[in-house]
Amino acid sequence: MDFSLSFSLIFFLFATVYSSTPPNTLRGGSSLSVERYSTDVLVSPNGVFVAGFYAVGYNAFVLAVWFAQPSSPSATVVWMANRDQPVNGKGSKLSLQKNGNLVLSDAGRTTLWITGTTSATSVELRLHNTGNLVLTSLESDHILWQSFDSPTDTLLPHQMLTRYTSLSSSRSQTDHSSGFHKLFFDNDNVLKLLYKGPEVSSIYWPDPWLMIWDTGRTTYNSSQIAILDPLGHFISSDNLQFSSADFGLGPQRRLTLDFDGNLRLYSLDEMKGNWTVTWQAMSDPCRVHGLCGPNSICSYGSGTGRGCSCVPGYKMKNSSDWSYGCELDRKQLSENDQRAGFVSVSYLEFYGYEYDVFKNISVESCKEKCLQSPICEGFLLKFEGGVYNCYAKSQLLNGKQSPNLLGTLYVKLNVSQASGGFPSNEPIEQIELNCSGEYSKLLDRVYETKSESKFLTFLAWFACGIGVVEMVCVFSLCYFVFRIPKRAGAAMQGYVLATSTFRQFTYAEIKKATRGFTEEIGRGGNGVVYRGTLPDHRVAAVKRLNGANEGAKTEFLAELSTIGRLNHMNLIETWGYCIEGKHRLLVSEFMERGSLAENLDSNTLGCEKRFNIAVGIAKGLAYLHEECLEWVLHCDVKPHNILLDANYQPKVADFGLSKLVNRAGGGGGSGGGGANSGFSRMRGTRGYMAPEWVFNLPITSKVDVYSYGIVVLEMITGKSPLGAYTAFDGEEEENRSLVSWVKKKMQGAASGASWIEEIMEPIMSGGYDMNKMGTLVRVAMQCVEEDRERRPTMKEVVEMLLCHEHI
Ligand SMILES: *[C@@H]1O[C@H](CO)[C@@H](O)[C@H](O)[C@H]1NC(C)=O
Ligand SMILES: *[C@@H]1O[C@H](CO)[C@@H](O)[C@H](O)[C@H]1NC(C)=O
Ligand SMILES: *[C@@H]1O[C@H](CO)[C@@H](O)[C@H](O)[C@H]1NC(C)=O
Ligand SMILES: *[C@@H]1O[C@H](CO)[C@@H](O)[C@H](O)[C@H]1NC(C)=O
Ligand SMILES: *[C@@H]1O[C@H](CO)[C@@H](O)[C@H](O)[C@H]1NC(C)=O
Ligand SMILES: *[C@@H]1O[C@H](CO)[C@@H](O)[C@H](O)[C@H]1NC(C)=O
Repeated sequence: MDFSLSFSLIFFLFATVYSSTPPNTLRGGSSLSVERYSTDVLVSPNGVFVAGFYAVGYNAFVLAVWFAQPSSPSATVVWMANRDQPVNGKGSKLSLQKNGNLVLSDAGRTTLWITGTTSATSVELRLHNTGNLVLTSLESDHILWQSFDSPTDTLLPHQMLTRYTSLSSSRSQTDHSSGFHKLFFDNDNVLKLLYKGPEVSSIYWPDPWLMIWDTGRTTYNSSQIAILDPLGHFISSDNLQFSSADFGLGPQRRLTLDFDGNLRLYSLDEMKGNWTVTWQAMSDPCRVHGLCGPNSICSYGSGTGRGCSCVPGYKMKNSSDWSYGCELDRKQLSENDQRAGFVSVSYLEFYGYEYDVFKNISVESCKEKCLQSPICEGFLLKFEGGVYNCYAKSQLLNGKQSPNLLGTLYVKLNVSQASGGFPSNEPIEQIELNCSGEYSKLLDRVYETKSESKFLTFLAWFACGIGVVEMVCVFSLCYFVFRIPKRAGAAMQGYVLATSTFRQFTYAEIKKATRGFTEEIGRGGNGVVYRGTLPDHRVAAVKRLNGANEGAKTEFLAELSTIGRLNHMNLIETWGYCIEGKHRLLVSEFMERGSLAENLDSNTLGCEKRFNIAVGIAKGLAYLHEECLEWVLHCDVKPHNILLDANYQPKVADFGLSKLVNRAGGGGGSGGGGANSGFSRMRGTRGYMAPEWVFNLPITSKVDVYSYGIVVLEMITGKSPLGAYTAFDGEEEENRSLVSWVKKKMQGAASGASWIEEIMEPIMSGGYDMNKMGTLVRVAMQCVEEDRERRPTMKEVVEMLLCHEHI
């Protein structure tokens, strides 16, 4: 029924638009004319792709390949020959010359683009079912040229990305000319995203502050190829792999480097006639470099969308284009430009461009150092590892603001201005994005063909075009990312979660996959877990949540979408959910080796594995706390919630559930701000819970840090945190908790490493790296400090452990 409907819809559209059945080949000696752009097209035999002249503005056309569906409001272009130099709407044509050269000429005079191919035999240009436009020499069947070798901003299934090709974003949603973001294989064989702006350039994906191997990539394979297969699986020679949320044969897919600098995988929903995002490289749009320009701050909220604002004392350089950033507001400066003071803003991060880093320094001395240096524009002060570090900046770039970032920026300004106009630490005024505006409109471009220099005229409209569409692009991004998931009425159709890697399952599907919930593999506080096999043969763990509140469906879906957007190698990947009647089920990946708890019991883990597991858990939690959009606390970190894959890589499970199950009745609606707002009662497991729960203190991410410390101690000592252990204390033996037992042992040994041997589980004795284990214990002990302020953040834990590892 569904199928026949979509089929007849497509058929109908084709029947009307292409009633004259256009050819799918162009023979040598013939041409396509821009004046007949609606009929002079090549269509692939399966009807999916169309090639021909595509209007990118008034009287401006490009030679392009696009999807026939959906055709409105504008088609989805996958390839362009002359994106930066459109041709005139009169007299331009694409000719396939008899000698095998394919020529795009503008208004009958200048040649804008050629393939430069020659062939002794007859040639033809054909649009293949894959979307590849191919020029072949007929007799030898030799491919002379193909569009797959020169991608624009999109990679189609079967199309290979190589060392010779790259994707370049469009300038904006409606301006198809080359933008500033690029996907390419770097010299170290790693696939990266680069911002190459008018003045600066920087890599922003994978995370530039991480070592390549920590991002799961490798530099060793120099073949530099990547491909998206028809099932929706992307694989690259640098080890990057991901799958579409709707993995499997079926929908049309494309991998596009969008104008906002994010790389997204889309699937076509033929019923609705639009594209849904089934994977994306970054969930936080502020991690893309260059979006807000220099001297500005990017911030992101799920309600308000992405916003840019200037740092204090600066003003927007070009009021219609944020990529120009902000400049010093000279009007407010003294005549001699003397800048002798500072204004501070909190909760910030500015990435890169520091000319010096001063460790363990006070605010006052850092101010002094900045004032002395003429190149200093300000500095970022961060509390790291118990001391304040100062990052002195020569440029203020890649700024972002978020409540969980710990840096404070001090902008170098005129003193009187600092004390007058900008009270310290007040939130800066945000320039709100207006999402209600029209979000997509065509550019009006004037394109003269008179006798003046073509190049100059081209430059002229190109320049106008860029600015005009910029606001449009910001609006549409805003619309695209934030409007759609908010539509509550559409919740049941499943596309609410379009931007996440989720899909909705029916109860019947899940019942079948789990063979009627027969194979139980685990049981926890909030539900029973069953093993199941999905229709695409993936083995899944299905958790049936009990006690989920039947009423709050919208909130359940909203929370799910948070979980769905999390994507990290040390977090269990959630594939989907089911919400039907009273049923609430979560479908996630299945882990071969079960939980850390089981593995500790059976003593299968050596010392090296335990260290790696501790690092992995820390990375997963650090991502939860600091990287993702909504700040997610786990609140129940324990060995039972840490699962191991075939290679003993740990993956944290059950995160976010603290919000899904038994939500605080009614009150926890729309993003109530503080980290502790959603918790009405204690959560967690005895033995692993931080003291804050008991003393009714505010709950922050440090509760997970505490639990993490306990888990690590348990991994090292093999002792449960619930037991009591004897330690020799002066004269008498005393029963102690695990933490104070370890502390006693550490203090007991004057120096050297003998205490490590004493506390370590006997099974691991011998063959371990004493220093590594020592570091691990010391870090764990910091994590279990009673005072939460003295515990490090998870990110600092990762740094401390890795620092040690790579020395
Ligand atoms: C490099 O990557 C390619 C493509 O993924 C793969 O076929 C090849 O086996 C890899 N080479 C090595 C040495 O791993
Ligand atoms: C897809 O199209 C449907 C119906 O035309 C519309 O309701 C929905 O909002 C669209 N979804 C997206 C992601 O644009
Ligand atoms: C700061 O600027 C004001 C004018 O806005 C000027 O009167 C004052 O002298 C300046 N102060 C310094 C220290 O330059
Ligand atoms: C930081 O500096 C202070 C005094 O300059 C010193 O006492 C302290 O040990 C230093 N801390 C670290 C971690 O180096
Ligand atoms: C947003 O834009 C629309 C039209 O573009 C306008 O009518 C509306 O007043 C604007 N809203 C705000 C808050 O500026
Ligand atoms: C600002 O953008 C407009 C187009 O919106 C452009 O014409 C102008 O040159 C830009 N101004 C500067 C100073 O770059």
